[in-house]
Amino acid sequence: MKNYTLTAVGVGPGDPELITLKGLRTIQEADFIFVPRSQDGEKSLALRIAKEWIDHDRQQIVELLLPMTRNADRLVPAWQGAAQQIAEQMQAVTGTETVKGVYLLLGDPLLYGTFTYIWAALAEAYPEITIEIIPGVTSFAASAAQGQFVLGSTSERVAILPASYETDETQLRQLLTDFDTIILMKVGTVLPQILDALEEMDLLESSMYAERVGMPEELVAIGADLRALKNQRRPYLSLLITKQKGSQF
Ligand SMILES: C[S@@+](CC[C@H](N)C(=O)[O-])C[C@H]1O[C@@H](n2cnc3c(N)ncnc32)[C@H](O)[C@@H]1O
Repeated sequence: MKNYTLTAVGVGPGDPELITLKGLRTIQEADFIFVPRSQDGEKSLALRIAKEWIDHDRQQIVELLLPMTRNADRLVPAWQGAAQQIAEQMQAVTGTETVKGVYLLLGDPLLYGTFTYIWAALAEAYPEITIEIIPGVTSFAASAAQGQFVLGSTSERVAILPASYETDETQLRQLLTDFDTIILMKVGTVLPQILDALEEMDLLESSMYAERVGMPEELVAIGADLRALKNQRRPYLSLLITKQKGSQF
């Protein structure tokens, strides 16, 4: 019986040097490189980050079309289709006992990543494929490092929230007072409301914004510099970190 292994590898948020050594070795040992691709035609960012480590002659890159939508009627068949495509590609290989694939994701695979859903679809329909997971440097860890912004020390309470889903402003304001540090992922489209709230709560000075961190288009703004971004909706690859204590330390 053949061995099929699919490893989800977190490639970090942008800088190719932030791929872990284990992730790099696993990418290089793989027969297949599976990458999610949205239907708007944009190339996979995870592939862009890892591309210099891939041998295009020996390894096969397979793009899996995943719609950028919250509509479950479209998402569920897409995840099932991606799982089927992964299984069919790996199971079509002949002449070897072991077939290895990697699924590349931005940041860490288990933090708001598409792999979770494909993993569930694979577990249900193709239990013969062994799943492994290699963690990655998260976007907020890389952003904090870039901004020299301490995420938490000693007993400080740190929360991670998906800002574009936090529609209740009162609750968001409550969270901003309940935690010492708040990491707001997916902040791009709601940045104007969030910056207004932070300014009213006098938290702007102890906040930082990071966009496309580790990529050539990186933008980082800290404290008073955040005012320049007011009233702007920013790209999806952006996050905001805010602290209670009035400084980055
Ligand atoms: C689908 S989630 C993926 C999170 C990722 N798995 C991680 O560990 O960071 C996408 C969100 O991650 C954040 N993100 C990912 N890469 C980023 C980057 N290079 N710069 C800033 N934010 C990033 C943004 O908040 C974005 O909306």
